[in-house]
Amino acid sequence: MDHRTLLLFVVLFIFSVSAFSTPDEGEDPIIRQVVDEEGVRLGAEHHFNLFKHKFGKVYSSKDEHDYRFKIFKSNLNRAKRHQLMDPSAVHGVTRFSDLTPREFRKSVLGLRGVGLPKDANAAPILPTDNLPKDFDWREKGAVTAVKNQGSCGSCWSFSTTGALEGAHFLSTGKLVSLSEQQLVDCDHECDPEQPGSCDAGCNGGLMNSAFEYILKSGGVMREEDYPYSGTDRGSCKFDKKKIAASVANFSVVSLDEDQIAANLVKNGPLAIALNAVYMQTYVGGVSCPYICSKRLDHGVLLVGYGSGAYSPIRLKEKPYWIIKNSWGETWGENGYYKICRGRNICGVDSMVSTVAAVHTTT
Ligand SMILES: *[C@@H]1O[C@H](CO)[C@@H](O)[C@H](O)[C@H]1NC(C)=O
Repeated sequence: MDHRTLLLFVVLFIFSVSAFSTPDEGEDPIIRQVVDEEGVRLGAEHHFNLFKHKFGKVYSSKDEHDYRFKIFKSNLNRAKRHQLMDPSAVHGVTRFSDLTPREFRKSVLGLRGVGLPKDANAAPILPTDNLPKDFDWREKGAVTAVKNQGSCGSCWSFSTTGALEGAHFLSTGKLVSLSEQQLVDCDHECDPEQPGSCDAGCNGGLMNSAFEYILKSGGVMREEDYPYSGTDRGSCKFDKKKIAASVANFSVVSLDEDQIAANLVKNGPLAIALNAVYMQTYVGGVSCPYICSKRLDHGVLLVGYGSGAYSPIRLKEKPYWIIKNSWGETWGENGYYKICRGRNICGVDSMVSTVAAVHTTT
């Protein structure tokens, strides 16, 4: 067996372990073996102490503590595997290192449904020959500060407000932070292609359905007039008299990276979906995993793109998308994620929407 074949086997093995292990990876015998090596165990304990301190983690009982430590150890190993599969990013301990992948998906993601509401248009094809090499809406004042969805599967509402905040800025020149809680409490739009699947607060939703809701309801209030609570047990407190931004129309962008870039530059930040599996351990850099599922489970905001050289191994410029997340500023690169462009990695190009805001003079 030559070196290349051997390497391929190693990569495939790592992938199969990471892709097909059960949610409770602490039970995986291969992983347990690695973790139980004395050195690694002491290392894990040290990292766990740092982790608890840094993120203010307090567990209610010794059992809970030990259970979380077990998950933490398996996540350390997962981070190592992610690092091998995704060498241009940095993977390690994050705020989510004591959650199983299933808990992670349930509590901090929240995309459900795939359908298109009846009012969605297909975005017109735009010219792409004069696109800037690098572009970032943050530098132009179209992006509010990074927000935090907390333990609530409301990612879809943050992606929606982010896109409308940008569109509203483009049409009025004013950047106004908009209310996710209004969407969480009041938007129960259903996905027409999956009748049982409706926007459901902390249990998930879809950006296109949320745009449809905003179109029908008249608009969205300001963040400060309808602040985020991160729970969906409250009633709808939408007040039509306090609408801060309204949707004129929304469109779906084709699965073409140049069209996505052109729509971004012309219309403002875009609501997009992706698979977030690598984001649980993401610390920084450009994420460009060799293999990543395209099953969409997280809604985020595309705000720009860049083309900087990043790989210490492959000294080649690799273009990337700049993505605003909703897990606070302590996650990733000050709350942002970079993912490489070029091959629909993690499904990042497959569900892209652009929204236009109603032009208001107030
Ligand atoms: C969407 O609304 C904007 C702003 O009112 C308008 O310029 C644009 O033509 C509309 N697009 C579609 C597809 O209706």
